[in-house]
Amino acid sequence: MDKPLVKIEKVGQTFNTKSGKFTALRDIDLDIREGEVVSLIGHSGCGKSTLLNLIAGLTLPSTGVLLCEGREIPGPGPERAVVFQNHSLLPWMTCFENVMLGVEQVFGRKEGRLKLKARVDAALAMVHMDHASGKYPHEISGGMKQRIGIARAFAMEPRILLMDEPFGALDALTRAALQDELNGVLGSAAVRPHRDDDQRSGRHHRRDREGRAAAPA
Ligand SMILES: Nc1ncnc2c1ncn2[C@@H]1O[C@H](COP(=O)(O)OP(=O)(O)OP(=O)(O)O)[C@@H](O)[C@H]1O
Ligand SMILES: [Mg+2]
Repeated sequence: MDKPLVKIEKVGQTFNTKSGKFTALRDIDLDIREGEVVSLIGHSGCGKSTLLNLIAGLTLPSTGVLLCEGREIPGPGPERAVVFQNHSLLPWMTCFENVMLGVEQVFGRKEGRLKLKARVDAALAMVHMDHASGKYPHEISGGMKQRIGIARAFAMEPRILLMDEPFGALDALTRAALQDELNGVLGSAAVRPHRDDDQRSGRHHRRDREGRAAAPA
């Protein structure tokens, strides 16, 4: 069996609130392996984003440990790209420039301009947004913005792609179409939360690269 890409051991997250300590997560164990697609499923407020933020390194756990490729996750890193629900594009940059931002961050020091440009072009083509590379975020639709956010994350060639309901704001048809597209291009591991409404209930379920259902962990 491959070593897990991400290993989560006995992780808990407690927040300090006005009314005292609030436990959002307790005793979470999860292994994520290369090529797996893991969906975190549960009702609103059950802790899906909290867990995703921990894997992203945006927050640190109150208890337990999170490892990525055998090393403790110290903070955010380019091997763990995040696609946020609000797509977080910079409004004063074109689609191309928004994707280039991520590409430069990871490859800017070791590759020339032409190679960087080729990476951005390929990522935009992958999400069928090459025609809009010169447009600004306010000139494209919500679904198109989501695609640019996905292209930016993909272009960074992360080891794991973390998606916090990036399709949440879309209508059901557009969401289904985008999910199909994304499933077609997913190569690295991915983690994404779902509420109960559009997935089977359960804590999370996993599928392999071909989309076959696998046993819940
Ligand atoms: N920074 C924080 N301070 C205090 N409480 C928090 C904080 N972040 C999250 N929580 C609480 O932790 C719980 C889990 O929140 P989380 O955002 O992970 O839920 P979720 O499963 O992603 O929900 P949704 O499906 O609505 O996105 C909630 O009760 C929330 O109020
Ligand atoms: Mg959430």
